[in-house]
Amino acid sequence: MVSEKINVTLLVDELSAPGFMPEFGLALLLETDGRKILFDTGAGEALLPNLRTAGIAPETISEVILSHGHYDHTGGLAALAPQCVWCAPGVELPHFSRHADGSVHDISMPEKSLSVLKKSKITYVENFTEIMPGLWLTGPIPRLSDEDCGGDFYREKECISVDIIPEEQALLTAGGTLISGCCHAGIINTLEFCRKVRPEITIHTVIGGLHLRRASEKRLQETAVFLRNYGIKHLSLFHCTGANAVTALQKALPDCRIDTPLPGEKQQSEI
Ligand SMILES: [Fe+2]
Ligand SMILES: [Fe+2]
Repeated sequence: MVSEKINVTLLVDELSAPGFMPEFGLALLLETDGRKILFDTGAGEALLPNLRTAGIAPETISEVILSHGHYDHTGGLAALAPQCVWCAPGVELPHFSRHADGSVHDISMPEKSLSVLKKSKITYVENFTEIMPGLWLTGPIPRLSDEDCGGDFYREKECISVDIIPEEQALLTAGGTLISGCCHAGIINTLEFCRKVRPEITIHTVIGGLHLRRASEKRLQETAVFLRNYGIKHLSLFHCTGANAVTALQKALPDCRIDTPLPGEKQQSEI
């Protein structure tokens, strides 16, 4: 018998809460039907202490979903021994980021996480895939719109080949909740893809990072218009969304509930 609810708890984020270590990264605990699934793992330091604070034994987490390969989502994998890791092909490939000051940073999955990944049973998600009744992983998200996805990401430190982070995936519930990691693919592309593949699902809630920290005013406005027309009623935003973007969306979408949860906060969604 499959539960019809899924509990989503923010475990790792830049914001702090009593007992929770802040860290630049993202990890969410998903609990449904007796299963504990980790959606991303943070950068590495905060996962175990924050699991302890949340009262979750790490060994009870049997499945890990990696939204994409960046270190701030995969670093905590080194502290786990999951039976199964869900990720899209290419998650192990190098990723580099160039900052506004011209400095280049290696943001790939850390070696220790790569070695845990190699020892795990990896399920590569290449297409929209139902991982349990009512829960889908999108697999790689095609860029269907002309949405400006931002970012200055490359495959090598010399910054020659642009990295669109093609392995990025999101999670969709049949009850209409979308969970994203960084949303490098863009929230418009992600929602368009879900509607194309699962048109019978009415998505009303988005939980996750939207990668809008350095978004232009134009992109923020276009995103707000799209979310309104799409019928999004609730945005639960954190990680790389950016405070400016949250404020802009709150202003542009007065009929949408927009909150910024702290680590330890749990919310329930329908499956
Ligand atoms: Fe991130
Ligand atoms: Fe990322």
